[in-house]
Amino acid sequence: MLVRELLKNFQELANKEVEFTGRIRSNRQGKNVSFLVLNDGSVIDDVQVVYKNETKNFEQLSKQRLGAVVYIQGKLVPTPNRPQPFEIQAKISEIISECAEEYPLQKKEQSLEFLREIPQLRPRTKTFQAVFKIRSLLSFAIHKFFNEKDFVYVNTPIITENDAEGAGEAFVVTTRNDGKYEDDFFGKKANLTVSGQLNAEAYAQSLNSVYTFGPTFRAENSNTSRHAAEFWMIEPEVALNSLKENIDLIEELIKSVLSYVLENGRKELEACQNFFDDKLISRLESAKDSKFKVLDYAEAINILKEAVKKNKNEFEEKNIKFGLDLGSEHEKYLCEKHFGSPVFLINYPKEIKAFYMKLNDDKKTVAAVDLLVPGIGELVGGSQREDNFDKLILRSKELGINFDDLSWYFNLRKFGYYKSSGFGLGFERLVMYVTGATNIRDVISFPRTPNNLLF
Ligand code: 4AD
Ligand code: MG
Repeated sequence: MLVRELLKNFQELANKEVEFTGRIRSNRQGKNVSFLVLNDGSVIDDVQVVYKNETKNFEQLSKQRLGAVVYIQGKLVPTPNRPQPFEIQAKISEIISECAEEYPLQKKEQSLEFLREIPQLRPRTKTFQAVFKIRSLLSFAIHKFFNEKDFVYVNTPIITENDAEGAGEAFVVTTRNDGKYEDDFFGKKANLTVSGQLNAEAYAQSLNSVYTFGPTFRAENSNTSRHAAEFWMIEPEVALNSLKENIDLIEELIKSVLSYVLENGRKELEACQNFFDDKLISRLESAKDSKFKVLDYAEAINILKEAVKKNKNEFEEKNIKFGLDLGSEHEKYLCEKHFGSPVFLINYPKEIKAFYMKLNDDKKTVAAVDLLVPGIGELVGGSQREDNFDKLILRSKELGINFDDLSWYFNLRKFGYYKSSGFGLGFERLVMYVTGATNIRDVISFPRTPNNLLF
């Protein structure tokens, strides 16, 4: 049986014979009895096993080290005065697979840095079990949210010829080592996608509300705790939506997935709270119940200027003025110190945003939105899209984007165009926000970051 089933049915199973197989978390010999703590991965909870001289294979069992896999058969005995609801009094044990002495996951506290070097073993720790279960719950909650709203899930390509964000951060996909892309597999330069947005936009024109949820790749050389070279992104795109409706959708999505995890991942959240952040659950609950602030970029600049007036060492980048591309220190100041809650910033200067965003009437700003959250900074980036063909072409030219490279995308505006809005939610950043993990390398199974490609 799986421990999950034992836990679910322990009242009916009280004082009955049960059997299960698990991995040793600890093995301790007492005077008269010995204790094993086992975990089988079906839940993050461990099971305590008591064994004695009479237990079959006592000798071998007492020699087993952390990490070994053992089979236990014995009586399930309820333990109402202890945190665990029951223990198993072992009659029979079998050693399924021993664990070598050099096993890196020993009892003493392991640093996250150390665990990052063994990404194949770290999911065996309770913390990582909790993080990856929450990651899975979040993924399901996102699909559930969109499914209940009748969104169509579209899979956009991973290999592409466009650089949607125009930031020149795409990884090249090639079979050659001479860079002759015209003789390459596709007969042209190909790269890994940085965003499915442009393709999703084409589908929103056909199906109204669509979303993508897939891997994206960016060769940003920013070695920070919030950037990965390979990360997953959720990108909804909705025809007819304004910026305001886009913002409402972001808020509804975030709150819906928070509710789902608070309801369905309580134990995992508690484990994360113990490990990462002792206020985690109350912070998530208050975000779920609060109204997110909406603030103009220009107003944010004023708040940041005030902050520098009060304390000139508040930021490393002190030259706060309209046009500044906010750094994570500024974003964190706004949502952590000033508001203490998630905040939407809107209407950014066009110079610091992508070519496809709709120009506002002031001709200076675009209909962009970023959601900033405490502990992370930017969690979501989105916009209403430029729907005017001529304005879009003009802006693209200013940015040196070749018409022919994106003609299919520009021309969507010529073939009967609904206005359209959408956003990108960085999935790892969401997992960080919900688990309290402070480094993106700890929320993706095998992280890819500069100079780091293990397995
Ligand atoms: O703000 P970004 O660059 O927006 C887009 O890609 C748009 N095409 C989205 C859209 O409108 N459909 O990225 C969106 C989000 C960011 O807010 C951030 O959460 C995450 O993706 N992100 C990263 N996460 C991890 N590592 C990186 N290198 C990331 N770059 C962006
Ligand atoms: Mg962004």
